[in-house]
Amino acid sequence: MTTAVVTGATGLTGSAIVDALLKDNHYKQIYTLSRSQPSTAQNSKVTHAHLDLQSSASDMSKDLSSVQGDEIIVFFCAYLANPDEAEAAKINGGMLKNFLEALELTGSIKSVKRIVLTCGLKQYGVHLGMPKQPMHEDDFNVSPGLRPGDKFSWPENFYYTQQDILTSHAVKNGYSYVTTFPQDVLGFARHNFMNECTALGLYASVGKLAHPNSELPFPGSKECYLAFNTWTSAKLHAKFCLWAARAPNAADQMFNVVNGDTESWMNLWPRVCARFGCKVPNSMFPGGSDGERPWWGFSASSRTELHSPPPVAVQATSDVPGIGFGMPELAEKPSSLYSQIDTEKWAKDERVIKAWETLRDKYRLEQKAWEKATWGFLTFVLGRDYSNVVSMSKARKMGWNGYEDTWDAFEDAFRELEAEGILPPLNKLKEEKSLA
Ligand SMILES: NC(=O)c1ccc[n+]([C@@H]2O[C@H](COP(=O)([O-])OP(=O)(O)OC[C@H]3O[C@@H](n4cnc5c(N)ncnc54)[C@H](OP(=O)(O)O)[C@@H]3O)[C@@H](O)[C@H]2O)c1
Repeated sequence: MTTAVVTGATGLTGSAIVDALLKDNHYKQIYTLSRSQPSTAQNSKVTHAHLDLQSSASDMSKDLSSVQGDEIIVFFCAYLANPDEAEAAKINGGMLKNFLEALELTGSIKSVKRIVLTCGLKQYGVHLGMPKQPMHEDDFNVSPGLRPGDKFSWPENFYYTQQDILTSHAVKNGYSYVTTFPQDVLGFARHNFMNECTALGLYASVGKLAHPNSELPFPGSKECYLAFNTWTSAKLHAKFCLWAARAPNAADQMFNVVNGDTESWMNLWPRVCARFGCKVPNSMFPGGSDGERPWWGFSASSRTELHSPPPVAVQATSDVPGIGFGMPELAEKPSSLYSQIDTEKWAKDERVIKAWETLRDKYRLEQKAWEKATWGFLTFVLGRDYSNVVSMSKARKMGWNGYEDTWDAFEDAFRELEAEGILPPLNKLKEEKSLA
């Protein structure tokens, strides 16, 4: 009998894993762990335990005393955001370390066969600027043990901290591990730290009423609009985690996890507009890259320069044969973020608030979803001036054949947000007229 344990079970990646586990007969029992109660707790296969991963290992071991099983697979998806990278590393590293120690205290670590840790593309420094791409899992194996930070004194990253903790603990305790790197995750979760679909769905729904003629300009940069990206459906990532939890050759490996297609906003944005009953503006970027003419009176945010040098410099300047590609000049130009409409400021504009309140009151939408919308994350994913394309070759060569169309994943998440009362019902929204 295999038992699954999921931390961060109420989050974007964790809740999708719980849903996938419920459909997989291999797992007879599922322990969901978080501070709040997951919606799946009603299912007979699921036992929810309240757990604060910021408490001590000894306190946690009391909450985890019921977690038992002959064979245990752990899916670690808990996450606490902090703008300070060093602090984030301390917090998220500490949560994993104390949790593993708590499993030792309860004795259940002896039954653990594999731990699947969800990380992300910050592994490649995508938050610091343009990486070499497509990104491959061994990009940073420039020499044994070399991390980008060793060469360019990058800020700390909690993924590296967590991976160090997990690998040494796994060796010591005789289980295997897998680390996943999803890209911007498309799915449903309430009030979580990074949620592209919620913020985008709210921008489009409210924009339909707030903007003249229901035009919906892409709020980010022209460079991002024309760039190529890959995305990760939360449901597909969950299926991947279940595959990686059992595939013998996945043991002790790290994997990129994206949908399997490559997309762009020039392709997706007209679909977003059509879906929400909005119009594609005749001139999408009237202010150009500098935004000297802000769209409809919304002030453009200033251009934010990212880390210098950008991550691509690691390979561009490497002198290791087969790794370096000989363009040291790329180290000189940092990447940047630009928004022609800063959605954080946009969400505070009185015309926008009026449109939101109209929709909220008419369709009983959740005020907290509006207050917690992750506009800063949207600014980042729509504002970058570089592509972010990930290779899936490593997993495919090992037998993974999952795929999901990125637009279908957006649609799926929008429908779920609608069903949960976060977005207005689409058939009604389409009848709404611009208030401007
Ligand atoms: N979201 C994305 O687009 C994205 C993209 C790429 C990579 N990732 C990575 O994926 C991983 C998981 O992120 P996510 O987006 O799934 O997170 P999320 O949706 O924000 O969920 C975080 C989860 O952690 C739990 N949690 C937070 N603090 C806790 C604590 N002290 N004790 C117990 N549980 C706690 C939360 O539950 P409670 O609050 O109920 O405790 C929640 O279930 C992170 O490493 C993230 O960087 C995310």
